[in-house]
Amino acid sequence: MEETSFVIPISLIFVLLHTLPILTLSPPTSPSKSPLPSPSTPSSSTLDPKQLRALQSLNIPTSKDPCTTPKTLQNVIHCDNSKPFHHLTSLHLINCSDDVSLSITALKSLSTLQDLQFINCPIAPVSFPSELASNLKSFTCFNSLRKLTGVFLSHLVNVTDLNVTGVPIKASGPVIILAHLKKVNKVTISNANLTGNLPGKSWNSNISHIDLSKNHLKGKIPNSITELENLYSLDLSSNQLTGELPTSIGDLIELRNLSVSSNSLSGSIPESIVSMPSLVYLDLSSNQFNGSIPKFLADMKSLKYLNLERNNFQGILPFNSSFIKRLEVFKIGENANLCYNHTTLSSKMKLGISPCDKNGLPISPPTKSPSSDDDYSGDDSDDDSSSEDSTSKKSGGHHGPNKVVLGVAIALSSIVFLIIFLILLSRRCA
Ligand SMILES: *[C@@H]1O[C@H](CO)[C@@H](O)[C@H](O)[C@H]1NC(C)=O
Ligand SMILES: *[C@@H]1O[C@H](CO)[C@@H](O)[C@H](O)[C@H]1NC(C)=O
Ligand SMILES: *[C@@H]1O[C@H](CO)[C@@H](O)[C@H](O)[C@H]1NC(C)=O
Ligand SMILES: *[C@@H]1O[C@H](CO)[C@@H](O)[C@H](O)[C@H]1NC(C)=O
Ligand SMILES: *[C@@H]1O[C@H](CO)[C@@H](O)[C@H](O)[C@H]1NC(C)=O
Ligand SMILES: *[C@@H]1O[C@H](CO)[C@@H](O)[C@H](O)[C@H]1NC(C)=O
Ligand SMILES: *[C@@H]1O[C@H](CO)[C@@H](O)[C@H](O)[C@H]1NC(C)=O
Ligand SMILES: *[C@@H]1O[C@H](CO)[C@@H](O)[C@H](O)[C@H]1NC(C)=O
Repeated sequence: MEETSFVIPISLIFVLLHTLPILTLSPPTSPSKSPLPSPSTPSSSTLDPKQLRALQSLNIPTSKDPCTTPKTLQNVIHCDNSKPFHHLTSLHLINCSDDVSLSITALKSLSTLQDLQFINCPIAPVSFPSELASNLKSFTCFNSLRKLTGVFLSHLVNVTDLNVTGVPIKASGPVIILAHLKKVNKVTISNANLTGNLPGKSWNSNISHIDLSKNHLKGKIPNSITELENLYSLDLSSNQLTGELPTSIGDLIELRNLSVSSNSLSGSIPESIVSMPSLVYLDLSSNQFNGSIPKFLADMKSLKYLNLERNNFQGILPFNSSFIKRLEVFKIGENANLCYNHTTLSSKMKLGISPCDKNGLPISPPTKSPSSDDDYSGDDSDDDSSSEDSTSKKSGGHHGPNKVVLGVAIALSSIVFLIIFLILLSRRCA
């Protein structure tokens, strides 16, 4: 009874789900009626005919009416609701073919666009007509357009979201671009061979996301960057930055994500960092930071990712195992003058640094274990300060060995039994 009463509604739902798409797909148009539409008279389109012709002249594959069937295999198109014809607001070109080619005349007709994305489209760039450039709110260029200039990007004056990745940018520095983008909230200029220094001023004070990773930026991190009080994420990794972290870095109270890895930064970890209540992700790896590792890092409640490896930190690691286990990722290896207290931390944690001697100095240069690059994942629990026993490495409870011996014995005896059984069986049959 109960079973059948369940089955019927479920099968009804299936039937409904299968018919719904058909119902929604059928209405749009009756294509059989319109005679062969020539590209010059796209009368059946709800998109402005000028814009449809522009798309066609750029060799961008589109359907007859891109506004009602916005998604083709490679492109995303969105239109507004204006009458009598819709206008393009959004155009994403993805994996475009070689015959797509930009022309200024065609782009002039497309200046209603607010969102323009090129993703894997290594076609030749053209300078955008000024009306298009100033209308754009969002511009993405990912492995596309071969190369760009700072001047080109500086024309996108109203852009709030800029993402240029994997395209070389010729510019004397980021300031050329950022000084003109007064409204930018999220900026990613990454893997772009961008040279020059980080700008001190000239950021939009409202900016929430800065990613200038994988470039050739030089010089110091300016103190004034810590005045960006809405900054949520700062990624300056893989550049050639020098000097120390600004002591006022803790003023960035909204910051979740801070990465300055793979630069040439030095000095110690500023104390103000403890006053960043929301910091989740801190990556200082592969620099020349020195001094001792501050214990206050353990008081940062939101921290989940802490990477301090490949630096010159020294002294005794001030963390206990409950802090390290609370983190999702903790890396500390390749700090030659740093050691851990082996009465409080187990060697099983494979921290990649050596234990301390009585004087708090590393016992020996750390043996480069193959797993020193691995993240520590807290799966063993020995909070008592017993000295480590390196024999039972995995799943080593105190009762572990006995169970293993028992299991092996049972397995062996059943194999022996099976063999005897088979021999007896074969003799019978013969
Ligand atoms: C674009 O090409 C890449 C690699 O060839 C492929 O992984 C990706 O799925 C393609 N994207 C689209 C939207 O076709
Ligand atoms: C873009 O910015 C210019 C000047 O900065 C302004 O005059 C214009 O109204 C803006 N356009 C849009 C669409 O916001
Ligand atoms: C940056 O420059 C290097 C060396 O000149 C080159 O190999 C690399 O392809 C460039 N990167 C980009 C995104 O063009
Ligand atoms: C700052 O951001 C807020 C919300 O994100 C927005 O309302 C405001 O207009 C922005 N101000 C400036 C100067 O960009
Ligand atoms: C922080 O940055 C890392 C690496 O760039 C990224 O994987 C992670 O998702 C980011 N986390 C947040 C909270 O933005
Ligand atoms: C750390 O590095 C800075 C700059 O390189 C240097 O001035 C300072 O003496 C170093 N401190 C220690 C404790 O080694
Ligand atoms: C570990 O360190 C944290 C932070 O210093 C502290 O709050 C906690 O009580 C310590 N836990 C143990 C078991 O010592
Ligand atoms: C290691 O920790 C134990 C227990 O907290 C302490 O007695 C000992 O002095 C520490 N060793 C060093 C070198 O600091």
